[in-house]
Amino acid sequence: MCGIVGGVAERNISNILIEGLKRLEYRGYDSAGLALINQGQILRERRVGKVVNLEQAVLDAQLNGSLGIAHTRWATHGKPTENNAHPHISGNVAVVHNGIIENYQELKDQLETLGYIFTSQTDTEVVAHLVNDALKSTPSLLEAVRLVVPKLKGAYALGIIHTDHPDELITVREGSPLVIGVGIGENFISSDQLALLPITNRFIYLEEGDIARLTRTTIEVFVDGQLVERPITELDATVTNASKGRYKHYMLKEIYEQPEAIKQTISQALNGNALREDFLANANDQFKNIQQIQIIACGTSYHAGMIAKYWCEQLIDLPCQVEIASEFRYRSPVIVNQTLYLCISQSGETADTLAALRDIQKRAVSKHLDITTMAICNVATSSMVRETNYSLLTLAGPEIGVASTKAFTTQLAALMLLVLKIGTVKQTITAEQVSQLIADLWHIPKILLDTLQNNNEILALSELFVEKQHCLFLGRGTHFPIALEGALKLKEISYIHAEGYAAGELKHGPLALVDNEMPVVILAPKDDMLDKLKSNMEEVQARGGELFVFADENSGIKSKDRQHVVNVPTVHPTLAPIVYSIPIQLLSYHVAVLRGTDVDQPRNLAKSVTVE
Ligand code: F6R
Repeated sequence: MCGIVGGVAERNISNILIEGLKRLEYRGYDSAGLALINQGQILRERRVGKVVNLEQAVLDAQLNGSLGIAHTRWATHGKPTENNAHPHISGNVAVVHNGIIENYQELKDQLETLGYIFTSQTDTEVVAHLVNDALKSTPSLLEAVRLVVPKLKGAYALGIIHTDHPDELITVREGSPLVIGVGIGENFISSDQLALLPITNRFIYLEEGDIARLTRTTIEVFVDGQLVERPITELDATVTNASKGRYKHYMLKEIYEQPEAIKQTISQALNGNALREDFLANANDQFKNIQQIQIIACGTSYHAGMIAKYWCEQLIDLPCQVEIASEFRYRSPVIVNQTLYLCISQSGETADTLAALRDIQKRAVSKHLDITTMAICNVATSSMVRETNYSLLTLAGPEIGVASTKAFTTQLAALMLLVLKIGTVKQTITAEQVSQLIADLWHIPKILLDTLQNNNEILALSELFVEKQHCLFLGRGTHFPIALEGALKLKEISYIHAEGYAAGELKHGPLALVDNEMPVVILAPKDDMLDKLKSNMEEVQARGGELFVFADENSGIKSKDRQHVVNVPTVHPTLAPIVYSIPIQLLSYHVAVLRGTDVDQPRNLAKSVTVE
């Protein structure tokens, strides 16, 4: 999604803005631009494609200035062209924008009748013209922005500069993330703190509706025209470690980080083979009362939620529903008393999940319902964590690869902790069961390390996928969501069309697709469904399908003609989905590398989906 970086300093900040944009590249974008104020002029460069194109243009034009804004654009309104790239200029005003101005057409019509000429197809350009127009009635840039904000409908974060205000950067947060990086004698803004980490580890997280004015030495935040206090948060080094190290791609590094990430995530909640007394202790009363869980999430996080549903029902006898946030939010859901509404999100900023959460809260208030909201999230400072009653952090560290890996498996670990916690409070699981599952959970990092040893074998198999157009993933029980996740991973980074199915559904349609050109990936842990799964494998083989089986080392499934088996270490069946995530991630990764795609930043996708 789009990224914003801006700053006001004493030194030339063009390099800082470009470096910031590079650090936002992982979010996905298709063009980039930058504007600086220098001696009463706006200096602007915009380029389609990668930030290096913009960097070269800025170097060639020798642009410099100590006040500026920069942007990576992920096209929503208008194609990825230079004219549509931000910043947009009207008179002496330059604007960068993340999000969507929903009423832009109406505003554009009004501005055109006032004589404003549009040079792009974007929704953003209306903001530049509106601020320019508002400056006819006030000399203050801050005041002009305050006059414009009520006219804008939608979700947005803005960075705004003006030639007559060479020491002033105005920023607005309304529905799209924005942080202020606090420097010494200089201040910055960004849509993601990662962009500013080379400069500062001190951040102010703006809240919805905040308008801020930054100068080199001051930061003022206003709500409805009133000055408000916003705390400065200092980040520690673990949050800020986001380099690729010795790995070729972030995704591979993040796959290999999973044993440690799981260890970190479970350590925060466990004391030996027991849950810590203080783990989510402030939610004990709420957990005791809940009658069901409703999970809301998108994409990979949704798959994690699907697995948690099996766990809730099997382990603690608690009904659990899971729904994709973009559907949930638009179907007038009935909000039910004594329900735990659980948002799962790596970023904590996903527009649909956040909107669903806010809608749930609004409906619950209007009907005086007693509900609890909670986030499982990888970003402690995210909107979702701040806006829910309780949160449980996945301690995966920054995930840069667009395809989620360690965020997913740590979500599973966190969900298991939550299920054990709720079952313990509600007394629907015995202390022995809890302690056995925790003992098995402690083994997971080591089992993941052993599973990663299969990397070369999986690399060899991935060569058989390179020329394929389609692929099926099959699993049963908690490995049905892993089949969905495998298909999602493969399609998003290798661009091979892939579908995940519950293996029991094979006969109800997808079997028609199976021929000798169709690779079928099977997830075969040693659980109650293994024999049924073996029958499904026979059905595929009888139709000439080629099987790629990730199977428990004691499953009895062996390699043979058109059946390639990779052995996975034996694991407690309940926790197996965490382990079987590794082979599907490695397979997708290697296929994508062999096909020469942009693994960390696949086409058309964004890391943090902050628009719907
Ligand atoms: C796929 C992937 C996405 C995200 C989805 C939700 O690999 O990463 O499907 O899971 O966009 O994002 P979060 O978890 O940040 O809410």
